[in-house]
Amino acid sequence: MSNHINSNNNEAPDKAVKQMPVLPKASWWLVLKNIFSMLQNPLDFMTDWAKEYGDVYDLNARFLKVHVFSNPDCIQEVLVRNKLDYAKSDHYKVLKESLGNGLLISEGAFWKKQRRIAQPAFHHKSMHNFVQTMVQSTQDCIDKIAAQSSLSIDKQLNSLSLDIVTKCLFGTTLAADVHQVQAAINTGNKFISTRARSIIKWPLWWPLPQNIRYKKARKFSDKLIFGIIEKRQLGTENHVDLLSMLMHSVDEETGTTMSSQQLRDECITLFVAGQETTATALTWAFYLLMKHPDKMQKLMLEIETVLGAKTPELSTLSALKYTQMVLEETMRLYPPAWVIARKVLRNTVLCGYPVEEKAQLILDVYSLHRHPDYWDRPDQFIPERFDEKLKKERHRYAYIPFGAGQRLCIGNNFALMEMKIALTMLLQKFQFSLVNPHQKLEPNPMVTLKPASSLILNIRPRMGLQYN
Ligand code: HEM
Repeated sequence: MSNHINSNNNEAPDKAVKQMPVLPKASWWLVLKNIFSMLQNPLDFMTDWAKEYGDVYDLNARFLKVHVFSNPDCIQEVLVRNKLDYAKSDHYKVLKESLGNGLLISEGAFWKKQRRIAQPAFHHKSMHNFVQTMVQSTQDCIDKIAAQSSLSIDKQLNSLSLDIVTKCLFGTTLAADVHQVQAAINTGNKFISTRARSIIKWPLWWPLPQNIRYKKARKFSDKLIFGIIEKRQLGTENHVDLLSMLMHSVDEETGTTMSSQQLRDECITLFVAGQETTATALTWAFYLLMKHPDKMQKLMLEIETVLGAKTPELSTLSALKYTQMVLEETMRLYPPAWVIARKVLRNTVLCGYPVEEKAQLILDVYSLHRHPDYWDRPDQFIPERFDEKLKKERHRYAYIPFGAGQRLCIGNNFALMEMKIALTMLLQKFQFSLVNPHQKLEPNPMVTLKPASSLILNIRPRMGLQYN
């Protein structure tokens, strides 16, 4: 890479005004072609540009000011140091159509209030409520796949994370409708990622088949969720799930609780933000472990030592240190949230570069996580680099799978817990191997960084816990 900003983690940002590297000025035709190609295959484009122009550059999109950053100092400035100069970018508006004003989208004082209300549901002391649910759902998944000799692990992990997020949000209330909910969410996700990449965004009332499909799916999930909320509001039963925590949370400052509409928006947000991200990370973890038998062996040794044949509990999860390193390294190479977008609220200087009000900022998490100045052998799978000592020596913002600053993912501990439970329990019971040992899984950047094809694995019961 060229043009990297090299600075110490703790130094104040450079205030001198510098010239941002700009992609070559192109004809209108080439600009449009570039934008079109970028929308179709953004990962390849951004990786190539980061190699050629460095970790800060201007897309030179003419009618749109777009700056791309994969430099940790700049990322720290946007998400943490000068966060008030930036807001969620206009790209999130597409999500607003389906998520409403939930935590992922809302801004300012309203967001702050909602975050304050929702935060306790994700505190460590609330987590033990969810461990049992996660273990039970994983056990159900194990029972379901036990008789198979090969499977698409991505599909199983998708169903598993859906089951977990559904039960943690709504208890068992949704069990009967779970497949319809899955179909509705898939329709919504597909619609959102296609719409986000479309240059022309047809209004929703336009009778296009995709608009009709999307509106039908949204109507279905809304009816279901409003129905559950209403039933809960009228009932007297005690429920131990996220919905009930959110319903009963009272904002300490205002003494208010959430309206039904806001509960719906927060539930749908948690559903969408928490399901595909986790399933995607787990699928990549399986893939990387299949490709690295030495790391698998090390992981199995830990599982054997810490858990033996027992199911994980809240108290044993923190002892699964290598499991955590495997998951962290997986999300370095394949960050489910591969890009974070912001817009500039007022003319300012970012890491020494002038940025104008309304400019769009793309924080290129994928390139950041493979930045050669911060990662030795960046394309290799080396979980050991997440050893506590090495972590402390690294730039704090060279690794941000869950974002950073005040908008840090609220479900980060929930996700890590879920992934640890699912990974260790599946490996306790089964030995997996690639059906096609030469399979190379390519990333497909949609709403999350999903694998472009299914990961098909052979599966057989593990005899004892000795890994061989
Ligand atoms: C591996 C799994 C996950 C990854 C990689 C991930 C990643 C992220 C990232 C990068 C952000 C910040 C977005 C930004 O700054 O624009 C975020 C926000 C958020 N995530 Fe996650 N997430 C994961 C799992 C979850 C889970 C399990 C839940 C809930 C059950 C969740 C709920 C949310 C919410 C509500 C926000 C918005 C928080 C706010 O702005 O206050 N996520 N997530």
